[in-house]
Amino acid sequence: MPEWLNDAVFYEIYPQSFYDSNGDGIGDIKGIIQKLDYVKGLGCNAIWLNPVYDSPFMDGGYDVRNYKQVAKRYGTNDDLVNLFNEAHKKGIKILLDLVPGHTSDTHEWFLNAKKAAENEYSNRYIFTKSVWDAPPQYRMMCGICERNGNYLVNYFSSQPALNYGFYEITHPEWQLPTDHPDCVATVEAIKDVMRFWLDKGADGFRVDMADSLVKNDDEKIATAKIWRGIRKMLDKEYPEAAMVSEWCSPERAINNAGFHMDFYLDHYGNGYSRLFRYGEWGNEAVFNPNGKGSIKAFAEEYLPAYEISKNNGYISFMTNNHDMPRVTAYLDKQAIKLVNAFIFTMPGVPFLYYGDEIGMKYQGDLVSKEGGFSRTGSRTPMQWTSGKNLGFSTGDETYLPVDKSTDAPTVENQINDSDSIYKVVTDMIALRHKYDDLHGNGELEFIYEDGKVPFAYRRGNLIMYFNPLAVESTMQTAYRGDVIYKIGNARFSDGKIIMSPQSFVMINIK
Ligand code: NOJ
Repeated sequence: MPEWLNDAVFYEIYPQSFYDSNGDGIGDIKGIIQKLDYVKGLGCNAIWLNPVYDSPFMDGGYDVRNYKQVAKRYGTNDDLVNLFNEAHKKGIKILLDLVPGHTSDTHEWFLNAKKAAENEYSNRYIFTKSVWDAPPQYRMMCGICERNGNYLVNYFSSQPALNYGFYEITHPEWQLPTDHPDCVATVEAIKDVMRFWLDKGADGFRVDMADSLVKNDDEKIATAKIWRGIRKMLDKEYPEAAMVSEWCSPERAINNAGFHMDFYLDHYGNGYSRLFRYGEWGNEAVFNPNGKGSIKAFAEEYLPAYEISKNNGYISFMTNNHDMPRVTAYLDKQAIKLVNAFIFTMPGVPFLYYGDEIGMKYQGDLVSKEGGFSRTGSRTPMQWTSGKNLGFSTGDETYLPVDKSTDAPTVENQINDSDSIYKVVTDMIALRHKYDDLHGNGELEFIYEDGKVPFAYRRGNLIMYFNPLAVESTMQTAYRGDVIYKIGNARFSDGKIIMSPQSFVMINIK
C-alpha cells in the first residue's frame, strides 16, 4: 500500500477546462504546469487528470484513439513528462485516467478488428459470428463494417468493448473464456499502457468503469481476478503507484480486486445523493437545509462498506466529478460549506473537483459538447480572474463558454473573502493534514439520536458536529473540548449542544 495515500488530498483536473496557456481556447498541459502552485496552495498533494490521450472526443476523451499519445490540443508526451517532473518537485503526485473497458472506434486495434480478413486484433473486441446474430441482452452495433459480425459497445456507440472474455458463456460460438490467449493479450496490452506511463513518471491511475471488463460476470469474480493480477504487477514493479477505481463497491473493488481506493458514488445504492444531492432523495438528502436528512440511513449504508474495507484501502468521497451536476445546482452556500467540512474530515482519500473550491455554478442550459450532454454544465472553464474569459484563455473563443453571470465566482474574488467556500475548503484541508486523527486511516464513530440531525462523528480525539438544518437544533452529547473550527455558532449546556442553523463545529477532547 503506497504510504502517501494516508495523507493524500486529490484535485481533479478536467484538462480542456483548466487553463489555456496558448490562447487556442482549450486548456492544456502547459497551463496545468503554470497552475501547480495554485493546486498546492489549496493543500492538495495529488491530482487526478482526466484523459489527455489522442481521441476524436466523442466522449470527452474517454474514447481513446491512442493510449500512448497525448492529444495535440493538450500538448506533447514531453509536456506530460514535464508535468510529472514539475509536480513532483512541489510534492504533488499525478494519477492519469486509465480507460480499460473500451477504446474509440477509431483506435488502430479496432480498425484492424473490423476488417473481414482475420488478423492479430480480430478478438481484441467482441464480435458475433454473423450480422444476423444479435442477442438482445447485449448492446451491439450491427451491420456497419465489412466484417460479418456485430460488436459489443461498452458505453456510447463509438466505444466498442475490449475483449476480456466471458465468465458465464451463453453463446460459445463467439464468447471466449477469460483464459483464452486473445483475452489474456488484452490484459497484457493494458498492462503495457500502464507501464508506459508509470515509467515516464505517472504515479498511478484512476480507472474508468473498472468493473466492466469481463462480460456475464454479475458477481464480478473474473473481473476482480484480472485486477488482482494487475495489483500483483504493481506491488512488484511500482509499489508506490496508486489505483482508484470507479466501481463504487468497496468490498469488491478494494477487498476482492485490490484497488487502493474506490469512489463513493451512486452506482450501487444511493449513498452519494443521499448526502449531498436532492434527486430522488428529495427532502431526505442529509445536507438539505429544509429536509429531514437521516444520517442513520447513510451510516447504515456506509459503515458496513467502510468496516469491511478499511484495513485494505480507502473509500473516496468527492465534492463532485465531471459526470454529475455541481453541488451548487442543489445546495446554498452555507450548506456547501458544511458538505466540504464533511468530505474533508471523513476517513479515506478525498477528491476536490476543479472549481468546486470557489463554488462554480452548474451551467445547466448549455448545448452538449463532446459527448457531455447533461454533464457539460459541470465542465466549463475554470474561473480565475475578472479579466477576459475570466482569466481562462486569451483566445477570442473558448471551447465551452465561461460563466457569464455578473456574480460569477473567481479565484481572485474568493481567495480573500473570509466568508467564502474557498476559505472553508482550504481551512479543512489544512486541518486534515495537521491532525493525524483526520488522515485516511483514522478511526470513525458516528454519534446520533435516532438518525435525526444534528449528528456528529468522532475521529480519535476530534469530534465533528453538524447541524445541516435551517433552524437551531440540539443534540445530547457527553463530549466537551476546545473548539478547533466552526461555521456558524454552537454552545454546550446541560449535556447538550445547541447549534445555530446550518452550522459545524470541530472540537478537540484531548
Ligand atoms: C465514466 C467517466 O467518468 C465518464 O465521463 C465516461 O463518459 C464513461 N465512464 C465512459 O468511459
